[in-house]
Amino acid sequence: MNNREVWATRVGLIFAAAGNAVGLGNLLRFPSKVALYGGGAFMVPYFVALFLIGIPLMVLEWVIGRYAGARGHGSMTGIMGSLFHHANWARVLGSIGVAIPFLIVCYYIYIESWTLGFAVLSLLGQMPPPTGAEDYKQAMQPYVDFYKSYTKPSTVAIVFLVITLLVNWYILQRGVVRGIELTAKFGIPALLLMGLFLGVISLSIKGGKGLEGLFYIFTPDLSKIGDPQVWLEASGQIFFTLSLGMGAIATYASYVKAKEDVLKASLWTAGINEFVEVVIGASIAIPAAFAMFGALAVPELAKEGTFRLGFMSMPAVLMALPLGWLLSAVWFFLLFIAALTSSLALTQPLVSLFEDEMRWSHSTAVNVSMLMVSVGAFLSAFVPSFIDEVDFWAGTLMLVFFALVEIIVFVWIFGTQRFHRELTRDVFFKVPLWLVYFFAVVSPIFIFILLYQWGVLQLPKVLANTSLEVMVARFFVIAVLVLLAFLSVESKRRYLSGPHL
Ligand code: PHE
Repeated sequence: MNNREVWATRVGLIFAAAGNAVGLGNLLRFPSKVALYGGGAFMVPYFVALFLIGIPLMVLEWVIGRYAGARGHGSMTGIMGSLFHHANWARVLGSIGVAIPFLIVCYYIYIESWTLGFAVLSLLGQMPPPTGAEDYKQAMQPYVDFYKSYTKPSTVAIVFLVITLLVNWYILQRGVVRGIELTAKFGIPALLLMGLFLGVISLSIKGGKGLEGLFYIFTPDLSKIGDPQVWLEASGQIFFTLSLGMGAIATYASYVKAKEDVLKASLWTAGINEFVEVVIGASIAIPAAFAMFGALAVPELAKEGTFRLGFMSMPAVLMALPLGWLLSAVWFFLLFIAALTSSLALTQPLVSLFEDEMRWSHSTAVNVSMLMVSVGAFLSAFVPSFIDEVDFWAGTLMLVFFALVEIIVFVWIFGTQRFHRELTRDVFFKVPLWLVYFFAVVSPIFIFILLYQWGVLQLPKVLANTSLEVMVARFFVIAVLVLLAFLSVESKRRYLSGPHL
């Protein structure tokens, strides 16, 4: 048998998976997208995408992860390989599922380090005092300046980046159970408490004016339902927030006990994630900005970028309340915990590639992984546009493409019947075969339309930019893809010669 770790408890496993999915996507990306794409207009495609592709893919990744984990594999390279006698094509295709989370974590961890930095600086009383201005532009100005000077990057920002990298390194070194699971067991309850607390605060600002922000999100607006851009963004959000289409869920699923009920686990993961997104995430940043700055300011704020609501508007709102420094610290700690449990999940596929396929020791696997993440994180800090460019390729486009690959490989090529057998093994509810057929057809069509729209709507715009910084980012993306494809083939020899099942 293989000696891979398995999650120690059911609760730990659910919390770890929730920590994987719940992240900056829920608390920053979601509110910004909702604000930008018109509140209720965004939520209709959002829920359609959740049920049509989100939940089916979540189940698929869990099923496949359990299958491959029992055979000693946790990275997409090994997972796809193990289904097809480790054919090169399968391992290379799988390596894209290691490249995507790695590319994401390169910028994700840098943003994570801002949240830690802002939390500590809030506690130390370093946040600018509120201006008392009515006009939102004036009220936010000190916080805009603060954000800009912090992310230049300042020395303080680099110090917190190094601390964040070390924290991730330390937890990953401790392993799946003593590291990731333990962090999630403390982190997730704390996150839920802080999130609910801030939700209540935000909704009650100015005697409940924040509630209007909630109405803004949940009043369905069908006027934009035909706009492909809104569909793209809403579906993209579903992939990102549920950590789908990049192997990160399958990697966590590979550490379950052989008879774990993966159907239950996938529903719990999706359920907790959606609770933190559409209940907690929806109740904080938008309602707070609504109450303080008024309805018109919200879409304006979002237009100026994803970080506006979280890093500038939120501190401006919170600092104006009693004990503002403390509220601001709670907000940024909340973000930090959400981000930390996700960055661990984004790095683990690479660790697993090194451990399970290259057969390096755990400690070496983590050291090399974190060294690579550090290189990417410093590029994110010092190369302008790196974050946006890598986010477009890895965090938006490639994961939709890879989701399509997952369905084709794991359901079509692996075989619908075989997949169904795996899906119905040791689970509380036997999903009927016709449902597998249904999703095997409908989800790819949905994704195909998305990819087509992306190609038509966004790709030309992105490709038009050929500045040096953008080219550096693209070169990095390509280099990572090539490197991991190479390692995936190279490790095959090592894998086949090593001790295994
Ligand atoms: N789902 C995480 C978020 O919402 C991001 C993430 C993606 C984490 C992929 C792990 C793997 O922030």
